[in-house]
Amino acid sequence: MAYRPDPARYQAMPYQRCGRSGLKLPRIALGLWQNFGGSDLFENGRAMARRAFDLGITHFDLANNYGPPYGSAEETFGRILEKDLAPFRDELVISSKAGYDMWPGPYGDRGSRKYLVASLDQSLKRMGLGYVDIFYHHRPDPETPLEETMGALDFIVRSGRALYVGLSNYPPEATRAAAALLRDLGTPCLIHQPSYSLFNRWVEDGLLDTLDLEGIGCIVFSPLYQGLLTDKYLRGVPQDSRAGRNQGGTLKGKFSEAKVELARRLDVVARRRGQKLSQMALTWVLRQPAVTSALIGASRVSQIEDAVAALAAAPLTGEELAAIETILA
Ligand SMILES: NC(=O)c1ccc[n+]([C@@H]2O[C@H](COP(=O)([O-])OP(=O)(O)OC[C@H]3O[C@@H](n4cnc5c(N)ncnc54)[C@H](OP(=O)(O)O)[C@@H]3O)[C@@H](O)[C@H]2O)c1
Repeated sequence: MAYRPDPARYQAMPYQRCGRSGLKLPRIALGLWQNFGGSDLFENGRAMARRAFDLGITHFDLANNYGPPYGSAEETFGRILEKDLAPFRDELVISSKAGYDMWPGPYGDRGSRKYLVASLDQSLKRMGLGYVDIFYHHRPDPETPLEETMGALDFIVRSGRALYVGLSNYPPEATRAAAALLRDLGTPCLIHQPSYSLFNRWVEDGLLDTLDLEGIGCIVFSPLYQGLLTDKYLRGVPQDSRAGRNQGGTLKGKFSEAKVELARRLDVVARRRGQKLSQMALTWVLRQPAVTSALIGASRVSQIEDAVAALAAAPLTGEELAAIETILA
């Protein structure tokens, strides 16, 4: 039977303007980095995408090399579009990126015009799309002139391959320089995608102020620190978890008993306010006025439901924020 989205999907989700642009984004977005690859269960990914859309999540975040194998998350998303979401293309914001290792040889990595344009053409083909809504340069490339990379982003918009462009993982100084180039080219930078969570606060050291000044939106990735800021690891490492599966070694260097102990103490603060730890972690990143959206990952439908439910919570009080600071100190 054809998928029919929930008619109430726009009633509860708050949407926030992305920087000083006209585009509004849902406060929670869904990323397909993990659990949508070629070796994952297609029906589980499909169920998560459908439930997300039913809950008002209009924004799906991809990259050329999400999988594994590389490219397979975009293929999975292409299948989900074909089966369920394509009739709603104009209700969706679909992002992709290039900037990390993708194919062998000198043209499948970093920030050249050659790489970015070819990579986006491949992404569009995998997803069966005519354009993406947002295309990002995935990380700064010190070897390529910034003028070339930003010129490629401008070309990508002018050629109709993307509606907007963004930067990911750029530090404040490089963000300012890139934003100035893009503004001069007439393709303003829409959005920045940095990591940010209770366990990783580098954006507080200048980036959020820069984005605010430049009028650039901000979507923060790994707000749950890949699962460590949930109740998942408080009593050991379940086999069916990212750390248990050790997917692509992505948690290497991040997982430690000291972090789990901090999570246990944060969990007490969360439960005192009637939230799960994962929900308080989202409330906490979204308290920053410069943060447009929190970009979560999920391995099952219930995690998406938990995240969206967090949006109904009361803001953190001064006392709760102070308790959190004491724990993190
Ligand atoms: N631009 C970049 O360089 C970059 C880098 C990384 C990620 N990203 C983007 O950010 C997205 C999110 O990254 P992420 O997956 O690291 O985000 P995250 O939200 O910090 O972690 C998601 C993981 O936490 C666990 N989880 C989520 N909700 C839970 C709950 N309620 N209870 C217990 N466990 C829960 C799940 O792992 P289990 O499998 O253990 O259940 C889930 O896959 C990616 O998909 C990608 O789109 C971008």
